[in-house]
Amino acid sequence: MRTVYLNGQFLPENEAKISIFDRSFLFADGVYEVTSVLEGKLIDFKGHMTRLQRSLSELNYEFKPDIDQLLEAHRELIKLNNITEGLIYLQVSRGSAGDRDFAIKKDTQPTIVMFTQEKSLIKSPLAERGQKIITFPDIRWRRSDIKTVQLLYASLLKTEAAAKGADDAWMLLDGFVTEGSSNNAYIVTEDGTIVTRELSNDILHGITRASVLKCAEELQLKIEERHFTLEEAQNAKEAFSTSASGFVCPVAEIDGKKIGEGVPGPIAKRLREIYIKANLDTAI
Ligand code: PDD
Repeated sequence: MRTVYLNGQFLPENEAKISIFDRSFLFADGVYEVTSVLEGKLIDFKGHMTRLQRSLSELNYEFKPDIDQLLEAHRELIKLNNITEGLIYLQVSRGSAGDRDFAIKKDTQPTIVMFTQEKSLIKSPLAERGQKIITFPDIRWRRSDIKTVQLLYASLLKTEAAAKGADDAWMLLDGFVTEGSSNNAYIVTEDGTIVTRELSNDILHGITRASVLKCAEELQLKIEERHFTLEEAQNAKEAFSTSASGFVCPVAEIDGKKIGEGVPGPIAKRLREIYIKANLDTAI
């Protein structure tokens, strides 16, 4: 049984209880971060905490997290659960005001929950064969840059993609790819340029995205942050996605059309290796 974190306490998972009036449960009024763990250390912890602070502030939370305390709690969870490779989930919700009310009350205590997920991240059969992607319209609210727990649509898409024999879903807004159900989306053009949608309210500002683009720059690859269409993606030389749980994950097929040779491309493979190596060096 896992040991989880709830509001300052480390508890067996079946003893951690929160109120039925918690606003994350009633209104999806909560934000989260997923940080990967390699060799028992946290990957890009600072980036995840900076985004957490931004998500909280965009939603007018009064609560300001103590990042040093959160770091200690992450490390304690890794130790207590004996995790060498996997993920740590952190959720901060606005807490309970003791009843259901759309209007947000001042002075509610946040609910802070953390738990570990043991998972093999470096060795990934999906990254080795390349993902099959299906596209769907992006009908999410127009603040996809805030990492809220309002994940029903992403969850429905992922399920529908699996039912159709695919691995994941990419979303389209006005004919342009926004991002994957839980990752950022990229293509590589004929001349080797990496193209990914520019940062805006339409996509999550991926922590892995920032790190991978830095790796690409160091490799002197050309990068264009701009919109791209489904057709451009289907005719690209390569495609891939990035996230804390998938790192750099190549795409083999989009809506039934093979990308390149229909196997992971060399640039995605190289970026995956370099990303892992660079982040192992800076893990804390
Ligand atoms: N998802 N876009 C969306 C919609 C996401 O949910 C995620 C992350 C990303 C990539 O962000 P990052 O590189 O910071 O992980 C992009 C996490 C992994 C999840 O929900 O499990």
